[in-house]
Amino acid sequence: MKRLLIVVVLCGVVSCSVTENALQQDNEVGIPPNTTEAVDETNPKKAQTEEKRHPLFQCPDMSPSPSVPTSVEFVKPADVKVIAALGDSWTTAFGANASSVFGLALEFRHLSWSIGGHRTCQDVITLPNILKLFNPDLIGASSGMSNAFRKTHIKDAGFNLAVTGDNTS
Ligand SMILES: *[C@@H]1O[C@H](CO)[C@@H](O)[C@H](O)[C@H]1NC(C)=O
Ligand SMILES: *[C@@H]1O[C@H](CO)[C@@H](O)[C@H](O)[C@H]1NC(C)=O
Repeated sequence: MKRLLIVVVLCGVVSCSVTENALQQDNEVGIPPNTTEAVDETNPKKAQTEEKRHPLFQCPDMSPSPSVPTSVEFVKPADVKVIAALGDSWTTAFGANASSVFGLALEFRHLSWSIGGHRTCQDVITLPNILKLFNPDLIGASSGMSNAFRKTHIKDAGFNLAVTGDNTS
């Protein structure tokens, strides 16, 4: 019992220091919060935590093909209607936005580079968020998180069928 208590206390200490470090890093490189407040130049400390959104981009041609293309070389980004992914922990984004040891059990599917659909391309640059600029009706991107040790619901995972720990044989 004594040993268990010591382990629990140690975990608490480790998670506190990890949280502080992770939060500091979040301010520098993390996912920006969606705030509409202007950056305050007179208060650098405040400005550091303000929103840093990615610029929107425009392509000369963002329209779909006039008819469904019959060969892959004619497929345009706006033609993509459904997105899906298979994979392992890279694709489930296992622990990707964890800010403490407890977050390491979570799958941040909404932030996965290949299938995450969190907010827009200005917030998180993922393949679905780029495709959504061309076709806002794109379906299949993950919109939520899941727990690696529980069943995942399609509501959160979309068509992200990746399973943490899976491999090919
Ligand atoms: C950001 O927040 C504003 C105001 O709450 C909202 O109108 C806007 O749609 C949000 N943008 C995104 C990308 O979620
Ligand atoms: C990522 O983690 C940071 C720090 O805990 C949090 O502020 C932010 O909202 C998280 N982002 C998403 C998209 O969950």
